[in-house]
Amino acid sequence: MNQLLIVGNWKMHKTVAETKEHIKRLKPLVFRSAAGVWLAVPYTDIVASAELTGHTEIQIGAQNMSDLLGGSLTGEISAPMIIEAGAKFVILGHSERRRFFGESDAMINRKVKLAFRSGLQVILCIGETLDERKADQTFSVLQTQLEKCLEGVSHEHASQLVVAYEPVWAIGSKQSASQENVEEIHVLCKNFIASTNGLSQDRIRVLYGGSVTPSNAKDYLQKPNIDGLLVGSASLDVQSFAEIIHQADEMMQ
Ligand code: PGA
Repeated sequence: MNQLLIVGNWKMHKTVAETKEHIKRLKPLVFRSAAGVWLAVPYTDIVASAELTGHTEIQIGAQNMSDLLGGSLTGEISAPMIIEAGAKFVILGHSERRRFFGESDAMINRKVKLAFRSGLQVILCIGETLDERKADQTFSVLQTQLEKCLEGVSHEHASQLVVAYEPVWAIGSKQSASQENVEEIHVLCKNFIASTNGLSQDRIRVLYGGSVTPSNAKDYLQKPNIDGLLVGSASLDVQSFAEIIHQADEMMQ
């Protein structure tokens, strides 16, 4: 079994002081975890998080970045800036970025390529809306997102990619997708990436995200093609997040 990966997405939560407190409590609970533990924190928390997790296996990342390296772009933040602050990975294409900030597949594609060229690992989020699901368009939507967001990404970079399947309707809604359905969709995504990027299926990691909690995490992790979880609200609570990581650890024994 490949290493399971549990990623916390803090979104716009936690000040620097709260971050320090949280990480100090989390560290002893996930010490020597067999599962990978990544935290996508707000930009302002990257430095403190990276310092506090320096000698641990926990990886710190950002939740977004600019598609350009620099310039007169008020409010933007670049790949070199987050890297110097301590980020090792970046989440790109989250549905909240697409929905509230108008990010297109073309823009996400530029970000993905720039992040890889800069030496970051990438978590690319894809997902369908409820209307698209009801219209039976789930896989065609995901396929288009994968196709457009990964256009021109080299074989070498594609092999480092982590995809997060997050149905838009399941995010923060307490309505999670069924494990069987997620497993089926992950297989389709892996087949598609393998056929377009020439990778073998076992090199492609696909996480599930959307209302994951300690009560349903294990059911997802038991599925062979669910390689980990992207956890929003449940990652804000130290105990809940540690519990999810422990479940992943158990699965890997
Ligand atoms: P949620 O968020 O776990 O709160 O549904 C997941 C995400 O948006 O990454």
